Formats: sequence, structure tokens, C-alpha cells
Amino acid sequence: MSALVVENLEVVFGRFRAIDGLSLAVDPGEVRAVIGPNGAGKTTLLDVVSGITKPRGGRVMLGDTLDLTRCSEAEIARAGVRRKFQKPSVFPALTIRENLDIGCGAGLGPAERSARIAEVLAEIGLSGREDALAGSLAHGEKQWLEIGVVLASDPKIILLDEPVAGLSDDETGRTAALILSLRRPDRAILVIEHDMAFVEAIADRVTVLHEGRTLYEGGMRGAREDARVIEVFLGR
Ligand SMILES: Nc1ncnc2c1ncn2[C@@H]1O[C@H](COP(=O)(O)OP(=O)(O)O)[C@@H](O)[C@H]1O
Ligand SMILES: [Mg+2]
Repeated sequence: MSALVVENLEVVFGRFRAIDGLSLAVDPGEVRAVIGPNGAGKTTLLDVVSGITKPRGGRVMLGDTLDLTRCSEAEIARAGVRRKFQKPSVFPALTIRENLDIGCGAGLGPAERSARIAEVLAEIGLSGREDALAGSLAHGEKQWLEIGVVLASDPKIILLDEPVAGLSDDETGRTAALILSLRRPDRAILVIEHDMAFVEAIADRVTVLHEGRTLYEGGMRGAREDARVIEVFLGR
């Protein structure tokens, strides 16, 4: 059974079809990258999965039974689908610990929360910094904190929109290692990214979107050799 299935998705803005009959299935344990030119519909796809945008047609199934297109944003988050937005959205006037505490959500008791926060701090490489204000962090550290906020709730589906945009090569390498460390058999990770070396380092498979449809799906090596992918995207 797939972790996440997008079936025949259609999203229309006015007369513009941003997603045009898109289908894809992400396996449990998989890291899937969604790549493609600007305007291909990548962020819109994440907007639908996370419930911000409702599609005109199609569905997004979490496991066998839950159609996310019929759920509110809060229900989707509670079902274990969590997203890191393209622009860092951590609370700058709160500390790292306070940001992670918010990410833990409501369900945990105080002891569980501090254990969870300590675990996440270690995962994102910010142990010992928990009292620093999020606003004082470097751009790369903010991105990791943001991933930490997502991790704090122990999500089953992690959605990451351009996690290495604006990062140095060193920070990008550390982010790739972080994402690989988050792989679990009961978790799927969907990453939008433009940095192809990064994508090659983390993704089991890539989906190349173009004009709201799948142009290619498979390994990154195959994508690099695909004539249509080269024409609309990689060749530029
Ligand atoms: N809320 C919206 N209203 C109108 N057009 C939108 C809206 N959101 C996205 N679009 C358009 O849909 C297309 C796909 O956008 P997007 O999903 O952000 O692309 P990508 O993330 O692949 O660069 C773009 O042409 C964009 O301008
Ligand atoms: Mg985008």
C-alpha cells in the first residue's frame, strides 16, 4: 500500500490549470523529489496535500481510507502530514525550544515534550542552542529549525518546499544528511527542490512536473537522460 496517493488531481485558478490530471504514489519509506520548471505546479501540489488549496477534481489519499481533499488543514496536520514552507516561518521572537514546543502539538505531557525536543535538537544539529532566539539564527539554521518543528510532531508524511534554497554548499550537504537520517519505513518524505545534485543525493525517485502534469517519473539518472526532461527543464 502507498503512503500517499494523488489521483487525477486538477487545480484551476480562474481559467488557468495549475494542476492538470496529476497522479502519483509515494511508497512508505520513500524520499520522493518533485522537480520541474517554475510554475510547473509543485507548490500547488503541496498546497493541496496540506489542505490550503481545494482541487476542482481528483483526490489525495493518505493510506487506504482518508481523502485529504475532504479534510481541513488542521485535520490533515493531525493525521500526521506536516509541511515546511518555502519561506522560513519559524517565530523569530521565540527561542528554538519554544518553536519546537509549538511543533510538538497538544498531545504530549511535559516530560514527553522535553524528551521529544531534546531528540529533535540532536537530529537537526542545534543541541545546546535551545535558548537562542530563532530570529538570531543563520538562514541555514532557520531552515533546520523549521524541519525540526515539522519533526516534533513525529509526522508520517513530511512535505518540504525548497529546503536548500539559499544555503551554502556545506549547509546543503548537511541538509541532505539530515533528510536521509529522517527516512523510516513508516514515513514518506516529499521534497520540492531545484538543486539537482541535492535531489540526486536524497531522492529514491523523482517526479518531473511540467504544466501541472507528470513529464517523467523514475530515478534521477533516467531523468538526466530523458529528452523531454532535458528540453523543458534540465537543459536550461
Ligand atoms: N493562488 C493562485 N492564484 C492564481 N494562480 C496561482 C495561484 N497559485 C499558483 N498559481 C499559478 O499556478 C502556477 C503554478 O504555481 P506553483 O505551484 O507555485 O509553481 P511551482 O512551485 O512549480 O513554481 C503558476 O503559474 C502560478 O502563477
Ligand atoms: Mg514553488
